[in-house]
Parts: sequence; structure tokens; C-alpha cells
Amino acid sequence: MKCRKCGGAAVLELRRHNAAFCTPDFLEFFRNQIREAIRRWRMFGPDEHVLVAVSGGKDSLALWDVLLEEGYRTTGLYLDLGIFDYSVESRAKCERFAATRGVPLLVRPVADEVGAPVPVIQRVTRRPPCSGCGLSKRYLLNRVALEHGFPVVATGHNLDDEAATLFGSVLHWQTEALARQSPALASTHPKLVRRVKPLYRLSERETAAYAFLRRIDYIVEECPFAEGATSIAHKQILSRMEDASPGAKHNFLFGYLDRARAAFERAEAVELRECARCGQVTTGTLCAFCKLADQVKRAT
Ligand code: AMP
Ligand code: FES
Ligand code: ZN
Repeated sequence: MKCRKCGGAAVLELRRHNAAFCTPDFLEFFRNQIREAIRRWRMFGPDEHVLVAVSGGKDSLALWDVLLEEGYRTTGLYLDLGIFDYSVESRAKCERFAATRGVPLLVRPVADEVGAPVPVIQRVTRRPPCSGCGLSKRYLLNRVALEHGFPVVATGHNLDDEAATLFGSVLHWQTEALARQSPALASTHPKLVRRVKPLYRLSERETAAYAFLRRIDYIVEECPFAEGATSIAHKQILSRMEDASPGAKHNFLFGYLDRARAAFERAEAVELRECARCGQVTTGTLCAFCKLADQVKRAT
């Protein structure tokens, strides 16, 4: 196998691109995909301070690494979900990454904000842990960004994540979710911070290779609640399709973004208000996060 760029010995084959790369040319390919994502979706400019949401996993730490290499001004944000050893270890990975590079990291325990950690939220709501967890993450990423005046939040969602989310939304024709599926969500209200996903062009295998080649120390274990989640089943189905036909995930997601997304976006203009309690954006009177916090308070 020879590197497409330099003809030297390749370390990684990317069937979807019909190419193979040596280490330096793969790293450059990886950074180029992120540069292209940032440029094409006007994610942020060189002078904007980016809040990078880091989970301690390969994707978000690889993203932070590239943004630092590219000279962006960044601060990390780790939300401590209180999920036993998993949270202790993933927090330590983020802290070590930030300390060795001398960059700032904010840490916010979800329990301080909601009143209980994710495992208790799950018991109280009797819903899958990922639902209270996902809601809390989305809410707190936005609120922390607002409180500190960051114009944009970047997450480590990759091509596999985005294709699986799209697949799930299509299976149930969730038109609101389809309208929001995008590598860049603009701020549509003064209290909504722009959200971007600079890794959407890169697969999970590619971010794992990048993290390995750059010797990034990340948490390999998945969240213990992830087992059996439908999003994982959807990823497995898409990966089987990808094996049979390289490029399937890419074509599915990129075809949607290029050709179908606009139709859903037009259909879903909703009126946004401010939550009567916390002032964050909602479509109702009280936001979903405040309702969740009330439910937790009543039960604990
Ligand atoms: P996940 O939903 O776990 O696949 O994570 C998707 C992205 O959300 C990650 O790449 C991070 O950018 C962000 N994220 C997930 N968990 C956390 C966390 N505990 N703290 C901050 N950001 C997170
Ligand atoms: Fe949220 Fe696992 S990370 S439930
Ligand atoms: Zn609220």
C-alpha cells in the first residue's frame, strides 16, 4: 500500500476515498477535512474564542488538538455527569490533556445544576439515561458559553455520529430533528450560542487513527449506559452498509445536507421564548431543563 500523496509506505487505507496515506500525509488530510468544514459552514473565524466541549473520548480531544495546532483560541468544557468511574476517568483525561498543553478547561458537575447526577436522574424520570443526560448536556453547553461570553461551541460529533442521528430521524420521520441536523447551527436568538461540529466529514475510524498517531491519551470505554442504545444499533447497521459499499455513510449524510435539508429547514420555523425561570431559550413557558430539575427536586 502506497501513500497517495508521497508514494511512501502507507499506514492507513481509506476505502471511501479510494486512498491510503503515510502518517504525516494522513494527519494533513485530517486537518484539511476540518479546515474545509470550518470554511464551508463558516463555523468560526480566527479571532473568535471557541468553547470546545470535551468528553475525554477520542473525537473531542482530537478536535481540540487540531484547533490548538491551527492556532485557534480555545477553552475546553467538561461536564461531569457523575456516572461512576466512567466520569472520574474521563474527567482525568480532559484535565491531563489541558494541563500538558497549558490550555484552560472549565469543569461543571451536572449534579450542581440539576440537583442530582445522571444515574439518579434516570431513576427519577424512569426514562433512558441518555435522554436526561443529552438534555442536560445541550442545555449546559449553551448556558456556560453564554455566561462566559463564548460566541460558539464546538463538539466532537463525527461522520458516524451524524449519519446515525440522521438515520434515526428518518426512520421515524422526525421533521424537527431533521431540520436541526446540520454541521453548524446558527444562533437564532440572542440566548442561543452557535453550535458547530468540525469533525462531521471524518469517520470514527479516522478520528481513532488521528488520536493514536498523535498519542492522545483518551478514555476508550464507552459510557456504561450506552449499551443497548438505539443509536449504537443504527451505527452498526450503517457500518455493515459501509463494509459492503464504501462511502455509503458519507453519501447518506452529505446527500441529505446538499439536497434535502433545506426543505425541512423551511418547514420548521418555531417561535422561541425565554424560560420564565432560568431565562434560557424554550418554545414553552418553562424549559425542559427546569422541568427536569423540578422533577429531580420532588423525588430526592
Ligand atoms: P456523545 O454524545 O457522547 O457521542 O458526544 C458527542 C460530543 O458531545 C462529544 O464529542 C463532545 O464534544 C460532547 N460531549 C459529550 N459528553 C460530554 C461531556 N461530559 N462534557 C462535555 N462535552 C461532552
Ligand atoms: Fe449520557 Fe451515557 S453519556 S448517558
Ligand atoms: Zn429554564
